[in-house]
Order: sequence, then structure tokens, then C-alpha cells
Amino acid sequence: MRAALIVRPGQPPSLADRDEPAPSSGEVVVDVLAAPLTPLDLLCATGTSYFGVPTTPYVPGVQGVGTVDGRAVWFPTTAGMAPGDGSMATRALARQEDLVFLPDGVDPVAMAALGLSAVAAHTALTWRGELAAGETVIVLGAGAVGQAAIQLARLAGAGRVVAAARSEAGRERARRAGADVVVALDADFAEVAAGADLLLDPLFGAPAAAAAQALRPGGRWVNLGGSAGETCPVSSSLLRSRSLRLSGYTNNELTAQQRAEAITTIARHAVEGSLAVDHEVMPFADVAGAWARQASGSANGRIVLVP
Ligand SMILES: NC(=O)c1ccc[n+]([C@@H]2O[C@H](COP(=O)([O-])OP(=O)(O)OC[C@H]3O[C@@H](n4cnc5c(N)ncnc54)[C@H](OP(=O)(O)O)[C@@H]3O)[C@@H](O)[C@H]2O)c1
Repeated sequence: MRAALIVRPGQPPSLADRDEPAPSSGEVVVDVLAAPLTPLDLLCATGTSYFGVPTTPYVPGVQGVGTVDGRAVWFPTTAGMAPGDGSMATRALARQEDLVFLPDGVDPVAMAALGLSAVAAHTALTWRGELAAGETVIVLGAGAVGQAAIQLARLAGAGRVVAAARSEAGRERARRAGADVVVALDADFAEVAAGADLLLDPLFGAPAAAAAQALRPGGRWVNLGGSAGETCPVSSSLLRSRSLRLSGYTNNELTAQQRAEAITTIARHAVEGSLAVDHEVMPFADVAGAWARQASGSANGRIVLVP
């Protein structure tokens, strides 16, 4: 079958022939319809992530949408994080217990674009972030996580959503996602988001330190990524003076059941038309080009690969 293949850590994948997957006990073969290309896929392939150097060669793709016996499913893989192949192939293996059956009417490509980015946004807001109705949320970045977080904060009852993104294109995406206020990352957060309850932060670095200035005493700051910096210049006095709660979040801490519940919620919102992120479709045959565009930040939203 045709598959994207990482042959050496740090190198982009190329299209190759790969043996058909052979399921072990508890595994099923998924006919892949759509596989999103995410920052995590690139990070794992570098061999510099906290998952270590991946065993090569391997098929990348930590998630996908496909069919099992004709039924639409979303499925995760551990590609790049543990030995084994991922979703960027005609067919992929998944653990039966990880499958999430999708509702009728779901668009496989739109659902793949949401995927784990929306799971992170939803769970970081509601579970880790303890979002309560009426609260003010700051969302940094308007990639897939940011766009989903703006919409999901609304759906969870947030009173006000302040979004910040570095590019005008990102700010336009945040406006379309329904943020009440949209600013640049160098904005005076203490003014535009004064008294915010929750900071949803996939960026870290200087933007997160600036946005944290707006949090109220006891405010919560949930970090789920480091797109703007691996470190962040936050002062001890800011954390202490307001008794801020700074928490890390990763999808990898979720149980299969928590993840399935989040995907089911996301799929329902997607079918209802209340949740979507910008995306573009590219064929598997163009995987090397897609990889380069995601790496350089020149993609028009989430790239979704299709067979
Ligand atoms: N913890 C988890 O479980 C989890 C799950 C999913 C994602 N994440 C992490 O969350 C982050 C965002 O993921 P995503 O899916 O939204 O990625 P994405 O769709 O590729 O979007 C990346 C976003 O980050 C912004 N950005 C990139 N570099 C930046 C910089 N130096 N300064 C400021 N903004 C910058 C981009 O802004 P422009 O649009 O202006 O280019 C874009 O809005 C990534 O670090 C990812 O690894 C974590």
C-alpha cells in the first residue's frame, strides 16, 4: 500500500510502498479517509521531543479519520512516540478500544482537521482549566488549537473571549471563530482583558508572560504548547502576588474514555455546524510538500492529507 515514510529522524517523509498492516489481538485495520498534519507529527519526527528518538522507518500520523467495516471512526496512533506506524497511509492499525465511532453526517476532512487539536482545546478549557459559565478567557494563537478554543469556550458558556495572534491572518481567523476582542500578541493585555479568569496558552514565551498580566487573583493559566518559546519570562512576583495557578496540559494524560468523550463532543458540535477550524486538503502523494509547508508556517490552516 502507499504510505508516507520517515526513514531518518529529522528528515521529512516521502511516499513509499509499505506492507499491508497485520493486526494483532485487540487491533483493527482502518481504511484511512483523512490524516491531519500537526505540530506533534513534526516534533516526533525530529527525534528531539520528550518521547525520544523514534524507531525508523515509520509511517507518521498520530491520528486520523477512516472507516472500519464501513462505519466512520476517528482513531489515534502512537506514531513517533512509540514503535509502530501511524495514519498517513492507505490503511492503518488502531487499537479497537481507541476507536471512536462518529455520528452520521460528519465530514471526515473537517473532523480530521479538528481532531486532537480540538480535544486539547476542549479538555484544557473544561477539565484542566475548570471553565465556569460567564468567565473571561484569553486564547493565545489562532492555529487549530486557538480557533477551536475560541468556539469551545463559547459553547462551554464563557462570558467573554479575548483572542490574540501574531499575524493579521491569525487575527482574522480568531474573529471568524467568534472572539469578542482580537488583539496582537504585543497588546496591553492588562487593559484589554483585565480581570480574566483563564488563560488558554499554546504559545508560552513572551506572549504568555504578557497575557498573564491580565489574570485576576486566583486566575488559571493552562499551558499546552510552546509555539512561541520553550521558556517564558514570567516573574515570581506576578505568580505570587495573584496566587495564580499555572498548569501544564497534554492529551497524552487522557484515558481512552476521556479522549473518546471529547472526540464525541467535538464531532457533535462539528455536525451541528458550531465548530470548525480552517483547513486545506492535500493528497498523500504531496506529503513532502505538505510537511515543508507545515514546518515553515505557510499552510492555509490545518493541512489534511487524503489518499
Ligand atoms: N498539549 C497538547 O496536548 C497539545 C495538543 C495539540 C497541540 N498542542 C500544541 O499547541 C500548539 C499549537 O498547536 P496548533 O495545532 O494550534 O498548531 P497550528 O495549527 O500549526 O498553529 C500554530 C499557531 O501558533 C502560532 N505561532 C507559531 N509560532 C509562533 C510564534 N513564534 N509566536 C507566536 N505565535 C506563533 C501560529 O500563528 P500564525 O497563524 O500567526 O502563524 C498559529 O496560530 C503547538 O505547540 C502544539 O504542539 C498541544
